Amino acid sequence: MDALKDLFVNNRNWAREIENRQPGFFSKLSELQAPNFLWIGCADSRVPANEIVGLLPGELFVHRNVANIVSHTDLNCLSVLQYAVEVLKVKHVIVCGHYGCGGVIAAQQNRRLGLIDNWLRHVQDVQEKYRGILEKTPEGTEREDRLCELNVIEQAVNVCQTTVVQEAWARGQDLTIHGWIYRLCNGHLRDLGLCVSSNAGLNEYYQVSYKIVDWPVPQG
Ligand code: CO
Repeated sequence: MDALKDLFVNNRNWAREIENRQPGFFSKLSELQAPNFLWIGCADSRVPANEIVGLLPGELFVHRNVANIVSHTDLNCLSVLQYAVEVLKVKHVIVCGHYGCGGVIAAQQNRRLGLIDNWLRHVQDVQEKYRGILEKTPEGTEREDRLCELNVIEQAVNVCQTTVVQEAWARGQDLTIHGWIYRLCNGHLRDLGLCVSSNAGLNEYYQVSYKIVDWPVPQG
């Protein structure tokens, strides 16, 4: 229980610090949220969305699940996306994975962990789809890293193909989908080059992504 008591102490300190820096911060924020970004990331405790990009409460709408998966039948994720795009009118959706993702690695190694195996089957589908590329990548960390990247790209493309995004683009709404990855060991984000704001852009990206096999394994 002491540990939990600490969390409340931390909470009050955090709130006081923000309020000291910006008096009225919370009362103003409680009236309205107007974030420009939706973040779809992994649930991993080492990848805290707001902190990584230095954004305050109110600036980032967040959905996280194991291995940052966007499934066309996941009402939870789709509802977050719909609300963010249609009600909050975010301008950017960022799918952010991370190297060393336990979910991706478990999927790659076909490890049996329980119920979650069914969820991670989505990552195994990505693995099947890009088997050719993955087999050309040296086994071990490099291949794990590559699957983490491919999973981000695949999930970001899934975002583009949702009815929510398709309808937003059809209405002419300003909405860009991004694919990023985070490296745990240095805290750095990397843009995977997926930055799509229309179906034409998506088709163009698809043509480029076939060349993904030539990508050097990033060291950043
Ligand atoms: Co993860």
